[in-house]
Amino acid sequence: MIPLIVDTDPGVDDAFALAVAALAPEVDLRAVTTVHGNVGVEQTTDNARRLLGTFGRPDVPVGRGAGVPLVHLLERRSDGVHGDDGLGGRSLDFGPPVDESPLRAVALMASVLEASEEPVTIAAIGPFTNVATLLSARPDLEERIGRFVLMGGSIAFGGNVSASAEFNVWGDPEAARRVLAGSRVPTTMVPLDLTMRITLTADWLDDLAATGPVGAALASTRETYLAAYSTRFGHAAMAVHDAVALLEAIVPGTVATTPMPVDVDTSSGPGRGATIGDLRGAEAQAVDGVRPVEVALEADATSVRAELRRRLSAGVPRR
Ligand code: RIB
Ligand code: CA
Repeated sequence: MIPLIVDTDPGVDDAFALAVAALAPEVDLRAVTTVHGNVGVEQTTDNARRLLGTFGRPDVPVGRGAGVPLVHLLERRSDGVHGDDGLGGRSLDFGPPVDESPLRAVALMASVLEASEEPVTIAAIGPFTNVATLLSARPDLEERIGRFVLMGGSIAFGGNVSASAEFNVWGDPEAARRVLAGSRVPTTMVPLDLTMRITLTADWLDDLAATGPVGAALASTRETYLAAYSTRFGHAAMAVHDAVALLEAIVPGTVATTPMPVDVDTSSGPGRGATIGDLRGAEAQAVDGVRPVEVALEADATSVRAELRRRLSAGVPRR
């Protein structure tokens, strides 16, 4: 079993990712923590509670996290790509919502790490504010984190929320830099370079919807998200960024990685939130002293889609 914490800002693709985690027989889902991002943290928390209710997981504690970034407040949010409620306008179709933990996100993460007899994987699929706060508040727990799997960043693809920045990093660049460059936790970063190549068409979603209630619920969130991909990126298909990251967290080796130091532009210029992968040789990299992370640049998209369909059509296991 893989002990897992998911930090999330549901979010349409977060919903696919949470379903993969909640339904995976090989995962011991210890906690879900919520963060500002696609929508405000009030809504991401309600969405996470409803999603876990839909997936039959009232046993999983949900800890509410940060509502704003570490340092600079955001002037705007992701402009409606996920719908006003974060789930394509269908949030109320999910549920019943599971209880919210009395522990807030960082306290809940810390309690899971303290209680665990083995290292815990933390999959972060929204802005990394909670994870950075955990590292700063409880550096003693860093050794109990087996691995970070982060959906975020971009090496050569460019940005999605701005010309230079991917949304999760843009949502809190200082937090992203703390996690990517300021931690020693083994880290896999799953950037847009890969996730934008693993997309789901309307036909694929229709097929998923026919597999059962979980597939139907997930497919129902597509409207604004799929439309956005058609109009903004010219794709008649939608990227499920977070689900790719969760598949890697659950099945290590799903993606092929390249080790490289990754730093983050935390300036206030047009590059704010850009992730800079250092592709130079080890000697040059050592000069800057930024530790390497595993950057996922390749995967078999057909196999990933097939694995997603298999796991999302399996239905809610009896517990
Ligand atoms: O850039 C993609 C990321 O931003 C995904 O995590 C999506 O859910 C949004 O949060
Ligand atoms: Ca997300």
